[in-house]
Amino acid sequence: MKLVKPVAADRLSELLRQMPKAELHIHIEGSLEPELIFALAQRNAVALPYASVEELRSAYAFTNLQSFLDIYYAGASVLITEQDFHDMAMAYFARAAEDNVVHTELFFDPQTHTARGVSMETVINGLHRACVDAQAEFGVSALLIMCFLRHLSEKEAFETLEQALPYRDKIIGIGLDSGEVGNPPEKFARVFARCRELGFHLVAHAGEEGPPAYVWTALDVLKVERIDHGVQSSKDAALMQRLAQDRIALTVCPLSNLKLCVFPDLASHNLRQLLDAGLAATVNSDDPAYFGGYINENFTQTFAAGELTSQHAYMLASNSFEASFLEDAEKRRHSDRLSAFLEAF
Ligand code: ADE
Ligand code: ZN
Repeated sequence: MKLVKPVAADRLSELLRQMPKAELHIHIEGSLEPELIFALAQRNAVALPYASVEELRSAYAFTNLQSFLDIYYAGASVLITEQDFHDMAMAYFARAAEDNVVHTELFFDPQTHTARGVSMETVINGLHRACVDAQAEFGVSALLIMCFLRHLSEKEAFETLEQALPYRDKIIGIGLDSGEVGNPPEKFARVFARCRELGFHLVAHAGEEGPPAYVWTALDVLKVERIDHGVQSSKDAALMQRLAQDRIALTVCPLSNLKLCVFPDLASHNLRQLLDAGLAATVNSDDPAYFGGYINENFTQTFAAGELTSQHAYMLASNSFEASFLEDAEKRRHSDRLSAFLEAF
């Protein structure tokens, strides 16, 4: 790993903001800001159980993952048309570009929408058109990862896969999200095996609230290439070794972990421990509209609270390109630009 010159604490937050980076863990439905939720509710004549933007925002006081998911799925109910999905994603791309995100891989949850009668075609075409427009408008490249909701059955995941296959050229990978505890990765063994045969990249949320055992089965049963969150891995020394040895990326989301009470404060977060143990950790925003910040806010608050340096900043951004599902030449182009940026800073 390249060595980076030290940067004084007062300039580090500027480096973090300006540094080119990839975001690999963003649920696009989690980028819906309360203002956009209300605008879309009005456009589509959807009734909301909140009287105002302020009342909705004040409901964002979470105690764990499930308390968040209940509000998150309610917020997504305003998405009806292809244009809604497009507008939601464009709002995220504009914000991500401000944070010097140059590449992003978006999670989307089709079952949240198909269950309400919105077609797979509407969801994917709206998001895909936004990905094309993001390159032209913001110079940000974007890929789509379709997630199965793990609180639903494997049969429902197979049905979702079937519905998505006509659009497979618009989907780079498959993920697994929603309530983790009690829904281990192995519940989805067969559908992930099928996705693998079909040539999709594979990722899964594991070790967010769930135990290290779920990270092991995400790796060994689902055969995923990246672990989303994975912060509970530090409880298992053998797992830490495995993740380091195989350079399995963890897409860590510090503000999400804080807001969902996975860690009591950012000073207690284990990001530095993961990096110093040789793991390919990255920093991401998860559901930025709900957790108090986009990717740069995650970087700056975590660095301010912990003892992280310009070397860690480089590792995190470098890992984000290395762990992406871009072609090798694109990864190299981004890594070279990152090195040039740091040299000139
Ligand atoms: N869906 C949206 N955000 C999530 C998270 N942090 N964990 C699991 N599922 C999610
Ligand atoms: Zn997530």
